[in-house]
Amino acid sequence: MTNGEPVTAADLVVVANRLPVDYERRPDGSTGWKRSPGGLVTALEPTLRAREGAWVGWPGVPDVDVEPLVEDGLSLYPVRLSAQEVEDYYEGFSNGTLWPLYHDVVAQPQFHRHWWRAYTAVNQRFAEEVARVAAHGATVWVQDYQLQLVPGRLRELRPDLRIGFFLHIPFPPVELFRQLPWRTRIMEGLLGADLVGFHTDGGVRNFHWLAQELTGATPDRDPEVVRYGGRQVRLGAFPISIDSKQIDELSRSEPVLKRAAQIREELGNPARIVLGVDRLDYTKGIDVRLRAFHELLEENRVTGGDTSRSGAESAIDTVMIQLATPSRERVEHYQQMRDEIELSVGRINGEFARVGHPPVHYLHRSLPREELVAFFLTADVMLVTPLRDGMNLVAKEYVAARHDDGGVLVLSEFAGAAIELTSALLVNPHDTDGVKEALFAALTMNVDEGRKRMRTLRRQVLDHDVDRWARSFLEALGVKVSQ
Ligand code: ADP
Ligand code: F6P
Repeated sequence: MTNGEPVTAADLVVVANRLPVDYERRPDGSTGWKRSPGGLVTALEPTLRAREGAWVGWPGVPDVDVEPLVEDGLSLYPVRLSAQEVEDYYEGFSNGTLWPLYHDVVAQPQFHRHWWRAYTAVNQRFAEEVARVAAHGATVWVQDYQLQLVPGRLRELRPDLRIGFFLHIPFPPVELFRQLPWRTRIMEGLLGADLVGFHTDGGVRNFHWLAQELTGATPDRDPEVVRYGGRQVRLGAFPISIDSKQIDELSRSEPVLKRAAQIREELGNPARIVLGVDRLDYTKGIDVRLRAFHELLEENRVTGGDTSRSGAESAIDTVMIQLATPSRERVEHYQQMRDEIELSVGRINGEFARVGHPPVHYLHRSLPREELVAFFLTADVMLVTPLRDGMNLVAKEYVAARHDDGGVLVLSEFAGAAIELTSALLVNPHDTDGVKEALFAALTMNVDEGRKRMRTLRRQVLDHDVDRWARSFLEALGVKVSQ
């Protein structure tokens, strides 16, 4: 729905690489908007909606000129990127350099000077657009690794603004960050903010050390403050969350309950359903969980719909579903990983399927929220096994959807969410045996223990929702937040 005039001179401006919606050219020639992928949008959209701010970001396709607009009540300010800039700034420096470097080098980062040049030019453009849109004395909230130079540029352009920065991915250990040829420039960019937020205390510590080491910032009496350029820069850990109540309510709605039952039926009413839901990203450890499931099939501890298989008489009839949103499809590491995952799915199904009953159901697409919640509700075990993840909102969404206290969450220790969700079955995703045994333990868990764990998880997720996250960040930034 598009309506009204976008706010001018906004008091709160969010700036992120993407707008919350992507511009879409449909096959029939018409154009429109669809929800953007990823956790950042999931978290920030309800926050900004509640506060009538403006959102500055890229509309998700190259070379389009779109006027500022109001989309479903949000004022959006599109920033144009050329095809070359998308290649060098977004696919290149953001997702070929920073993304793997910040995720513990689970893939090899590439360092190219022309990518860096594009990154600086595009960050400058984002800063200029924000400087144009923000009211005098406004609060600007800069998001994520694609825009780390924006706080510094913006401070030069508009010293009247209050600037916050939040990093949605891990901030890496110092030894890894120091590999970056432009490490000092990035740190200086971030130190343009009044508040720099991370998901975890580990991020705060790494940043605190690097700021002193690389930029000459000095410590303050307050351990969460550094002094830089005659100013105080506050640091803090703000674990992001979801609109827990909305998912809880959705999971209780009649259509979702019906759909959940229908999915189980469509799968042939297996004894257990195991679910994975991710952007198709090499950090998410989708290969890890496929390997664990494959080995359980080989060991005849589970069957995937073929209950008649000889030797598997006492196995648990278990079906796995992997939902994967297409992501960064032009980046080489992503293409390779997609091929590997699809090969594994084909191999498992080739070996263990019965006609009409594959053990792994793999959907390479983005699903509507209602459908996703129905999958959460029907899944007996949720597998969240990233090798590294800033937070992982999917883990929290699963918990929020389980109003019935059912289901077991298996969660990687290397997801930020593991710090809060300690009643999940925590696993080291590098340890295939460990993941396999945790999956089997989840499949065979005593109902009372499962419920007890889920109740504890739900208390955490329902109490610590995205509104609480946004409030605590904005309050630390010195913004008066209404009730
Ligand atoms: P990231 O930000 O790295 O993508 P998160 O787990 O934090 O990871 O957030 C992912 C978001 O994308 C969640 O809100 C999740 O529900 C959504 N999502 C992931 N896969 C799908 C899918 N196949 N269909 C619809 N939404 C999806
Ligand atoms: O926080 C992870 C993140 O990069 C967000 O910035 C973004 O919302 C999401 O993943 C999706 O990635 P992309 O915008 O590259 O499709």
